[in-house]
Amino acid sequence: MLATTRRLLILSAALLAGGSALAQAPIVIKFSHVVANDTPKGKAADFFAKRAAELTGGKVKVEVYANSTLYKDKEEMEALQLGAVQMLAPSLAKFGPLGAKEFEVFDLPFIFDNYAELHKVTQGPVGQMLLSKLEGRGVKGLAFWDNGFKSFSANKPLKNVDDFKGVKMRIQSSKVLEAQMRAIGVLPQQMAFSEVYQALQTGVVDGTENPHSNLFTQKMHEVQKHVSVSDHGYLGYAVISNKKFWDGLPADVRGKLEQAMKESTEYANKIAKEENEAALEKVKASGKSQVYAMSPAERLALKKAMTKVHAEMASRIGQDVINAVYKETGFDPSKL
Ligand code: LMR
Repeated sequence: MLATTRRLLILSAALLAGGSALAQAPIVIKFSHVVANDTPKGKAADFFAKRAAELTGGKVKVEVYANSTLYKDKEEMEALQLGAVQMLAPSLAKFGPLGAKEFEVFDLPFIFDNYAELHKVTQGPVGQMLLSKLEGRGVKGLAFWDNGFKSFSANKPLKNVDDFKGVKMRIQSSKVLEAQMRAIGVLPQQMAFSEVYQALQTGVVDGTENPHSNLFTQKMHEVQKHVSVSDHGYLGYAVISNKKFWDGLPADVRGKLEQAMKESTEYANKIAKEENEAALEKVKASGKSQVYAMSPAERLALKKAMTKVHAEMASRIGQDVINAVYKETGFDPSKL
């Protein structure tokens, strides 16, 4: 009798233990991205994973999958919407296929002169308005993370507008980038980030554009003879989650994750500029690519040739969205 009672007690203790172990199983967030760990986005994603674990006392485990190891560009968007991953930070140039064409405003050439102008948009009401547009698509917009200003690379020197004519260049999936390239006679070819190195190496395309952190960490400079520092456009990210997943989190956990996201955004936007400057120095030191800093006159000629795209793309992006950005940054289209 006593033995039976003891056995029952042990059994219920085991069940309870099992139950509490289940209750303690962490909430897993799969965070997929396409760049190297050693980039502004890669570092910020790792930082978020660390802070999420710390702030929730281990209730949340963020698993970061870098370098397209889980999904490539287009697939990752689909995976998020299906709930196969919970978080991403795609480039702002990759939201068109999701139906959020307004995000392509960030791709307009020469729309930001520097990070300070950019932050007026990404860290202010216009940025919030843009993130809220994702809600109807099953996506929760959480933050904007910086990368940086783009350079061109190719196997020939690119200095004057004429040098770009007939060059085949890889672009991200953005109609604005396509128009920007056509404006200077480039033949744009859209492809996933994970395919760029090989496409450059085998000559499927002749060149591309990217901030230096991406150029260097993907070793693109090893298969490109020339890099032209042009700062002609911006590349950065929106951090997003599956909306159903995010809204379904326990409120206290969600609050902690919001705090982790706030800290990660500050971190990302603090390191991005330094990371890109350091990457440029590493490209120079490698001696594999010749780095050329475009002169103010050459940049101005490029700007004049490219900025007609602002008007051309107004019906796609929305003139109201473009004007809202101009208002924040002081960009004056009449001065083009
Ligand atoms: C690219 O495709 O060139 C970039 O969007 C990659 C990235 O995520 O920075």
